[in-house]
Amino acid sequence: MVVKKLTLKNFRNYEEETFVFDEGLNVLTGKNAQGKTNCAEAVFYLCTGSSLRIRHDRQLIRRGAERAFITAEAVSRFGTFTLGASIGENGRELFFNENKVRRSVDFLGNMKSVFFSPGELRLIQDGPDERRRFLNLSISQTSREYASALLRYQRILEQRNNLLKERDAGPVFETLPVWDEQLALYAARIAVARREYLKELSALAADIHGELTDGAETLALAPDRNYSGDEGEVAERLKEELAANYERDLRLGYTSVGPHRDDVKISIDGADARGFCSQGQARTAALSMKLAEVAVFTRLAGEPPVLILDDVMSELDLPRRKKLLARVKDLQVILTCTHAERVLYGAECKKIRIHGGKILL
Ligand SMILES: Nc1ncnc2c1ncn2[C@@H]1O[C@H](COP(=O)(O)OP(=O)(O)OP(=O)(O)O)[C@@H](O)[C@H]1O
Ligand SMILES: [Mg+2]
Repeated sequence: MVVKKLTLKNFRNYEEETFVFDEGLNVLTGKNAQGKTNCAEAVFYLCTGSSLRIRHDRQLIRRGAERAFITAEAVSRFGTFTLGASIGENGRELFFNENKVRRSVDFLGNMKSVFFSPGELRLIQDGPDERRRFLNLSISQTSREYASALLRYQRILEQRNNLLKERDAGPVFETLPVWDEQLALYAARIAVARREYLKELSALAADIHGELTDGAETLALAPDRNYSGDEGEVAERLKEELAANYERDLRLGYTSVGPHRDDVKISIDGADARGFCSQGQARTAALSMKLAEVAVFTRLAGEPPVLILDDVMSELDLPRRKKLLARVKDLQVILTCTHAERVLYGAECKKIRIHGGKILL
């Protein structure tokens, strides 16, 4: 998968600019606060329909402007296509080949990308939210069924939680089983998809981590709870578990079991990585997970995703930088950094210099 051309209009600090990317390594350079990450963010937005940095799309609109536009021309093994997003204060419109896409699940994953930035350390060091978000975004990019199961699950969960906040317990007990029938169904779909995804990701991440550390460390990823059996069996057990926790949920005012509470255990040499590993170890573990994500996407889509490396080179030591560059030489990479010379060691690339939301010629 390759992004050929990207046009930004009133997006972040860009008034209007068009990027033409190469199939291999593209390096965006420039001083701090010039628009490098903004450009990378725009590519990711067209892949997922969301930004990793913010919750509200309106922050993407250039200050003083009314709408932001991102358009791209991309090539996959099925041919050339275009993607577009028109982002306004009160909503957005998404386009595939210039046709409006009504549901965001149908937009997601037409172009696939893996985004890696220093913020990804959170994946290792922060609470379970970060890891669920990683799984959700990652699996959603490759499976529309997962994306729509997740959406439905979240809607039902919200309604169930509202119900649990009601004071009058009698009617609540009567209504819960009705919600739980549906909730368990989607929960099982999510749990089984995550289990299978993690199985593959974990094996790949372990290999990559071994390579990056010259065999010095062993990385392992595993779901923090086991859902065994097929979707039907998992759904049955979840339904029972939900029912067994009615009173507790009512007391808490929210649903205490299900995939929205699950986590991924990440360990290095058998010890829980969270709270114990060094910054450098966490960075390498996060990088191994991201490169494993690239490998899973490649297998599922039959071609590699676009890899976005935002500001990560300067944080890795020399051997790791070199290993990273060697590993990604067959994919399209969009890499941002302040000083290309210091991180590239003569690697062949297309350099794009950015200053104040403009490409310097
Ligand atoms: N909605 C917006 N309207 C106008 N400017 C914006 C908007 N959102 C962000 N900016 C500006 O865009 C500038 C560039 O941000 P960006 O994150 O792309 O910098 P960068 O080149 O990646 O810098 P660094 O090297 O520090 O990471 C920032 O100065 C920010 O204030
Ligand atoms: Mg940046």
